[in-house]
Amino acid sequence: MNIHGFLTQKISQAMLLSGLSENCRPQISQSEKERFGHYQVNGMMALGKDLGISPKTLAKKVLEKLDLHDIAHKVEIISPGFLNIFLEPRWLAIQIDNVLSQDTLGITPIKKQTIVVDYSSPNVAKEMHVGHLRSTIIGDAMARILEFLGHHVIRANHIGDWGTHFGMLIAFLEKQKIKNYAKITLNDLEILYREAKHAYDQDVKFAECARRYVVKLQNGDEYCQTVWKQLVNITMTQNQMLYDRMNVTLTPKNIMGESLYQNMMPDIISDLKSKKLAVHSQDAVVVFLKEKHSRSGELTGVIIQKKDGAYLYTTTDIACIKYRCETLHADRVLYYIDSRQNQHLTQAWEIARQAGYIPDSVQLEHHMFGMMLDKNGKPFKTRTGDIIKLSCLLDEAIDRATRLVLDKNQNIPKKELKAIAEIIGIGSIKYADLSKNRTTNYIFDWNHMLSLKGNTSPYIQYAYTRVLSIFRKANIDLEKRLSGSTYLLNNPSIELALSLLRFDETIKKVAHDGMPHILCAYLYNLASKFSQFYETCQILEEKDKKIKQSYLKLAQLTAKTLKQGLSLLGIHTVERM
Ligand code: ARG
Repeated sequence: MNIHGFLTQKISQAMLLSGLSENCRPQISQSEKERFGHYQVNGMMALGKDLGISPKTLAKKVLEKLDLHDIAHKVEIISPGFLNIFLEPRWLAIQIDNVLSQDTLGITPIKKQTIVVDYSSPNVAKEMHVGHLRSTIIGDAMARILEFLGHHVIRANHIGDWGTHFGMLIAFLEKQKIKNYAKITLNDLEILYREAKHAYDQDVKFAECARRYVVKLQNGDEYCQTVWKQLVNITMTQNQMLYDRMNVTLTPKNIMGESLYQNMMPDIISDLKSKKLAVHSQDAVVVFLKEKHSRSGELTGVIIQKKDGAYLYTTTDIACIKYRCETLHADRVLYYIDSRQNQHLTQAWEIARQAGYIPDSVQLEHHMFGMMLDKNGKPFKTRTGDIIKLSCLLDEAIDRATRLVLDKNQNIPKKELKAIAEIIGIGSIKYADLSKNRTTNYIFDWNHMLSLKGNTSPYIQYAYTRVLSIFRKANIDLEKRLSGSTYLLNNPSIELALSLLRFDETIKKVAHDGMPHILCAYLYNLASKFSQFYETCQILEEKDKKIKQSYLKLAQLTAKTLKQGLSLLGIHTVERM
């Protein structure tokens, strides 16, 4: 059920009947205040202006043709020309029963697309740090949501597994006579990398050897390839452990790193040259792009091949988008990368578009995000100024969640405590990130994220356990299809029903905008509405059998929606807290 879509259709029909053209949009939104009804039509202001008619007159004309019989009990016009729609509780109740009679929670069908989601994308020989956290968590939630709607989602982990520094690493491992790779951890690799860089900068002979290895690696030398593969392997095995721990759906199959595109490069360079897009400039190969906002037509030079023949990060992304369009047949590509890479991405796409690698119908979207900051608004680091490792962050979250659970219940068996703390701890970190509008920086705050009050995952997980406990006490299986009809006889019930019926429109908006915080805000609202309902309606004490059954139905749909919603965010629920 999509009330928003349904009303849009109804109003559009009325607009047509009142003589407006079919291009006119009603622009409906959920009302922000109760006194404005449940939905509000905002489009008359802009239309009135375009047509030179007062918005109120226009609203009146539309209202005359509007048929919301049995659907709304009141539609009122307020200045300067809004239409406020007050939905009929009986109609809402029927919709709840409809939703409960299906298994889809009211999700309506979509036009299936192939969507590539580029996320996480750590670099080889470096541990993932908190900076990769946002990309991984937000990207994974989006992949889950798009898949849930029925799209064909391709998860692309664009790892940094190529570049001249691999020559340096291979040479250094050889210099140190390190042969047993099985014992090397990612942490060791990071240290080796720093030492190798030092040697490269200090020792001319070593630097020369490193450069020779780069060429060898690029030419497919067997020894270099083997060592390189081991380096990638060490890194991604460790990262996979983190993904699994965080309930992130990425698997080794999703790795599509920079190396994948290297054999496409020579052809792309010559193609761009033959299309007169790329030229030689000071020994490098460069594409000159018009500055977006410059009137005088200033140009920016983007290097795609260096003097020594090496390709760049941008060249890789040109090949990568070509591959995603031509080989993966993407209709839409979402990139979850921090905002500092926006210029890089737009340049790569612009070149690829000009070269004809991207059909016009393909949508490319950079879903940027800001940084994670500490309480003082500074980039999140350890006391010694190092970047915080993701694994340490997760350990601390679980520690804190353990204390939270123990505070409430000291008698909980150890094994259960461990499992619950893991779910609550990791969930709270993920939710803290997902619940903020991703475009801004956000302040990492342990106390808030683990609080049982406010827009946090423990609050929503707790609301879920409350329903479970009702069903346990009533001795009913939560999955059972309940008989009887829904009655919405008081305000908290109506509000809860309305929130439940907005699941579909919420998910569709998140899928469109790539903004999971909208889903978080929805779940928080739903949990709050449930809490008000729970306090007003004594579900288990209710004497009237029909009403009790109706309460149970609302509670059941609440639990299912909360669980599904959290699961789309990659967060588990617990049976009790
Ligand atoms: N590996 C890069 C980094 O850590 C992110 C890659 C993002 N994806 C892309 N197609 N460029 O900064």
